[in-house]
Amino acid sequence: MEKDKLEFNSLADAILPWYYSHRRVLPWRMDQDPYHIWVSEIMLQQTRVEAVKGYYKRFMEALPTVADLANASEERLTKLWEGLGYYTRVRNLHKAAQVIMQKHQGVFPEKYEHVLALPGVGPYTAGAICSIAFNQKTPAVDGNVLRLWSRLTNDARSVDLPAFRKNATQALEAIYPRDAGDFTQALMELGATVCGPDRMPDCTNCPCASFCKAHRAGTAQELPVRLPKKQRRIEEKTVFVLWAKDLYAMTKRPEKGLLAGMWQFPNTEGFLSPTEAANYLQKQNIQVKNIIKQVERTHIFTHIQWNMRCYYLEVSGILPSFHWRTLEQIRQDEALPTAFRIFLPDKK
Ligand code: ADE
Repeated sequence: MEKDKLEFNSLADAILPWYYSHRRVLPWRMDQDPYHIWVSEIMLQQTRVEAVKGYYKRFMEALPTVADLANASEERLTKLWEGLGYYTRVRNLHKAAQVIMQKHQGVFPEKYEHVLALPGVGPYTAGAICSIAFNQKTPAVDGNVLRLWSRLTNDARSVDLPAFRKNATQALEAIYPRDAGDFTQALMELGATVCGPDRMPDCTNCPCASFCKAHRAGTAQELPVRLPKKQRRIEEKTVFVLWAKDLYAMTKRPEKGLLAGMWQFPNTEGFLSPTEAANYLQKQNIQVKNIIKQVERTHIFTHIQWNMRCYYLEVSGILPSFHWRTLEQIRQDEALPTAFRIFLPDKK
């Protein structure tokens, strides 16, 4: 046991030099401004680094300070987030920026408890912000770090168990070095690349190979152990892209629930056949001039999968029950989530 402790004490000595020579150049690694770290960490939740880069730069150009974020309109924020998914994240960013303005006089709080109390910030994000921005010894244990830890310790318990995360967090806390922010990022970086998820661990290039217990035992490829994934609920939908002249029918989603308050094309539950679709539209007083085409697509959310059938229909009149927009307006102004954007016609 004593020996294990000594071995893991050298973790920082092993991974910090590796991190300094191997780290990816990323736009949120240019400084330690807590606003930059916070926004990047929220964007990186459940989203790949490559996908986040462009959004992060655009967001910071548009809203360079917490005050800008607090004062931004919901429409502007939703537009800046469009395509990143999980829109609750941006609504929480907005709320949290307002909390920072009102409760913390516009200065990003440094205390872990205050950071954790911000809307949308959980233990992982609070740990990341406090260590990376303020150099506090607060671990940020995400999926990458859990995988790395399960291999370093050769622990075959499921990383999905709260006890596993708790143990890893406590063990890491005890060995945090002075360069806390770099250590946090080094753990994430090693877990995301050399000890990564989608391929065999690259143990020959790993700075931890000499003391990694899974490597020694030959079990690195079998770890981490995960609990079986919950099945996504499947929902079927019929979507209508309706246009009259150069205007397209849009509606707003309800203010609560999935994709709350965002734009959508009119749609209904179930997979309607062409005849059922025609009846459905007729009941709503929509006069169809031409059925142009029908396509099928799938969109996956965390807990739900939408199987969608979309009809493209030319209609004869502009009904007041919809908002009517040109394609240009929809592309430029409307925050249309990816689940519906995939049906946007290419040109016209
Ligand atoms: N994933 C989560 N946080 C990250 C960060 N700061 N850098 C790279 N990948 C990350």
